[in-house]
Amino acid sequence: MTNPEVYKFFSDYVYQHTGILYKEQDYYRLDSRFNTLVKKFEVKDASELFNLYVQKITPEMHTILIDLCTNNETYFMRDLKPFKAFAKEGMDYLKETFPNSISYNIWSAACSTGQEPLSLLMALDSFGDKLNLNKYRIEASDISTNALDKAKKGLYTGLEVQRGLPANLLIQYFSQVEDNWQVNKDLHNKISFKKLNLLTESFPLNEYHIIFCRNVLIYQDMENKKKILSKISDAIKPGGLLFMGAGESLIGVDIPMKQLELGKAFCYVKDS
Ligand SMILES: C[S@@+](CC[C@H](N)C(=O)[O-])C[C@H]1O[C@@H](n2cnc3c(N)ncnc32)[C@H](O)[C@@H]1O
Repeated sequence: MTNPEVYKFFSDYVYQHTGILYKEQDYYRLDSRFNTLVKKFEVKDASELFNLYVQKITPEMHTILIDLCTNNETYFMRDLKPFKAFAKEGMDYLKETFPNSISYNIWSAACSTGQEPLSLLMALDSFGDKLNLNKYRIEASDISTNALDKAKKGLYTGLEVQRGLPANLLIQYFSQVEDNWQVNKDLHNKISFKKLNLLTESFPLNEYHIIFCRNVLIYQDMENKKKILSKISDAIKPGGLLFMGAGESLIGVDIPMKQLELGKAFCYVKDS
């Protein structure tokens, strides 16, 4: 049996540094993470692990813990409709709203292992105008070093490319390397990846035409959700768009954005 003090210490630490909330009823979800850390640091059990972390948390110990406590679940074209709407009606909307922009700044704000920003580019090709890579500046960020390292490699397993990626896009944009699939360099190089903590770091002001911030705020409490969304709203250009995950919304959050139906998806538009 793990001591409640141990659960509390680790859940508090993770909450403080990421905003990810492990409530008391979710403490059991930390057990498998403790097991991994116990093996990694060659200690006897969770109590010894606690003693180690209480003494001193090195940057390496911090990164390993944060990586383990994030949920990096993602897949290509997740929920499909937002990607179609982004590429078709979203692009028409941008052309109308920003007639003088020659390129568009798009940010995948919790990109995990990279499927989301790659899907944005492939969606433009599939559902929008013919893809002109020079027209888009795509940034992608995440707090998880492991997830980001994988995103930067652009190498996916057979199982991962089977999740959401149509066969024609797989053939067009990936080449097989043994059992894995490597994304084409021209597409991949279009994305600049960086590590970024949505909760603690600041974002550039009025910078982005579109932000995708999907399936990350569900792990935050209301206070942190408001904090992050307020910074995101400031980072979007007036008239720019925010796409959230299915089941996520701005209900209860007071920022200058309104819901907009775009094709078969919903997003939010920042007041001009
Ligand atoms: C469930 S994945 C969603 C990935 C992708 N947006 C999607 O919808 O498929 C959530 C991602 O949010 C990241 N994350 C969690 N808290 C974060 C924070 N405070 N700052 C930046 N990224 C964070 C996690 O590392 C994880 O990769």
